[in-house]
Amino acid sequence: MSPVVEVEHLEKRYRDFVAVEDVSFTVEAGEIFGILGPNGSGKTTTVECLQGLRRADGGRLSVLGHDPRREADQLRRRIGSQLQESALPERLKVWEALSFFSSLSPGGGDWETVMNQWGLAEKRSATFASLSGGQQQRLFVALALVNEPELVFLDEMTTGLDPSSRRVAWDLIRKIRDGGATVILVTHFMDEAETLCDRVAVIDHKRVIAIDTPAGLIDTYAPDTVVTFSTADTDLGYLHDLREVDHVEWSGRQVSVTGRGPLLATVAAELVGHGQFPTDLQVERADLEDVFLQLTAREA
Ligand SMILES: Nc1ncnc2c1ncn2[C@@H]1O[C@H](COP(=O)(O)OP(=O)(O)O)[C@@H](O)[C@H]1O
Ligand SMILES: [Mg+2]
Repeated sequence: MSPVVEVEHLEKRYRDFVAVEDVSFTVEAGEIFGILGPNGSGKTTTVECLQGLRRADGGRLSVLGHDPRREADQLRRRIGSQLQESALPERLKVWEALSFFSSLSPGGGDWETVMNQWGLAEKRSATFASLSGGQQQRLFVALALVNEPELVFLDEMTTGLDPSSRRVAWDLIRKIRDGGATVILVTHFMDEAETLCDRVAVIDHKRVIAIDTPAGLIDTYAPDTVVTFSTADTDLGYLHDLREVDHVEWSGRQVSVTGRGPLLATVAAELVGHGQFPTDLQVERADLEDVFLQLTAREA
């Protein structure tokens, strides 16, 4: 199956300002694909070009087999777009917005189900202006889903949601994917990207600087693992001999062993083999946030 999205050397300028200089990636069917990057790095511009909302100045784009520059109308029927910062009319009611958006879709999507899934049923007759920020956000996402899209673009969809609404949103994003759709998710939340995304692209300074699975990025850019425990024993020389161990540091009774690979299991086995049973053995691994900070600091 050919990729759902293919972007090669996308370039976009606003007058003479270059907003996206050279962005390339592909998204496979059924993926949740994340786009990460500092503010102003060109994420929104990139996904707007893919949706045919903005006209790319250079590069080759293919989205569900369409060129968004020439076939934006056909494309828009097959994708779901989350409105960003674009307010609906203040007095429009929740159910009116949903039923209106669903009437635009060829199959006339099931807006009542989407309304219930996104926890908007009790607000069905509330006006857009009377909704809280989080409720407005949920409405934007719900509107992106009423036409049962094959590909969904979510741009900072959980910004403004409280922690429990975020978890609900994560489950729903997985459901969108499990229903067979592909999801492109622009986010600032590294935990969100790490738990939800099959692969992520990191954009910085208008270019893709890294692309991989979250675990692959961590392995490549921040592979160190640190195992800590405390002990009264000062003779731990045998730990240095382990292939997985890079160095061992002491701080009082606390020992930190830095290395890579299956470090925890190896260190634990070795300690037990030497008659040591530390009760506070802990492991610390880098997460996607560490990788992101490292990658974007290097670019700066
Ligand atoms: N309509 C516009 N006109 C001029 N400059 C814009 C416009 N939209 C975005 N930009 C600029 O383009 C750059 C990329 O913006 P954007 O794609 O929104 O970044 P991100 O979504 O990564 O924060 C920023 O410097 C931004 O100020
Ligand atoms: Mg943006």
